[in-house]
Amino acid sequence: MAGAAAPQQRGGNAEDVSAEALAEIGLRYEVDGEIATITLNRPDKRNAQTFATWSALADIGGNLPEQIRVVVVKGEGPSFSAGIDLRMFTPEGVPGQGSFSSAAALEGPAFEERLRQAQQGFLWLRRPEIVSIAAVQGHAIGAGFQLALACDLRIITNDVKFCMKEPALGLVPDLTGTKPLVELVGLAKAIDLCLTARTVEADEAMRIGLAEKVVARSDLAKAVQDKIAELLSTNRDAAAATKRLLQGARGRTLEEQSAAEGAEQAKRLRALFG
Ligand code: ACO
Repeated sequence: MAGAAAPQQRGGNAEDVSAEALAEIGLRYEVDGEIATITLNRPDKRNAQTFATWSALADIGGNLPEQIRVVVVKGEGPSFSAGIDLRMFTPEGVPGQGSFSSAAALEGPAFEERLRQAQQGFLWLRRPEIVSIAAVQGHAIGAGFQLALACDLRIITNDVKFCMKEPALGLVPDLTGTKPLVELVGLAKAIDLCLTARTVEADEAMRIGLAEKVVARSDLAKAVQDKIAELLSTNRDAAAATKRLLQGARGRTLEEQSAAEGAEQAKRLRALFG
């Protein structure tokens, strides 16, 4: 597994992440001004993910240029992502990356550390300084569903099929997906979705709060562009401060949240008029 960068780091160069290395893993990464786009690019394998995918995502997050305000995560081809590469379940595993059986044989805390590193590929997508958008078409299964959940916003197509398949395979969803899922749809619905591993289609996804917008496949790119334009129309520092406030709101009392609002506003007013 390639070295995963710490998700807190920021301010690298887009060039720090080698395009050739990413292409080998099945990823494309483009930076255009304030927008970074990550494309899962193994459409013939329905953008199945491996440990190398998650390390590369962590590297991208660790080297994200300072100017980036919006990160788009999308998938090439018929499906956003069919989840973990099923070769991981075979004794042979994925060439160069081993298998679940070889990873489970790791001694002591090394195995847990490997799983923790995988999560670093997802966690940075919630940073206050950026807004992440998942553009999801077709299947988003297991790790694919969790990658969509790792983003702040989801724009979906009307043929979307979300499925948290892990419990059906004897696993738990551990790629940071359980918390956003519960926060988006509530505990009862999250239990329903995960413990049945049933498929959620676009109408239900919209109804239960899994997505912000549903469009036809042909309109997905435009819908994402429109959302980016809306997001970039607000003040950069105010947007980051507001996202920090919103992210902290659930864990605070009204009084604590009001105090946090005041503290952020004092910083804004000083920056604007001080
Ligand atoms: N891992 C590796 N290869 C995959 C995966 C995967 N997760 N999903 C699809 N592929 C490959 C298929 O083996 C096939 O390869 P081949 O052309 O060499 O035979 C190719 O992608 C196309 O797959 P199809 O099944 O033919 O595509 P279709 O569009 O009909 O179906 C679907 C797509 C529904 C996503 C299906 O491929 C599927 O169910 N995949 C497995 C999903 C899964 O169980 N993922 C694990 C979830 S748990 C987790 O992520 C932790």
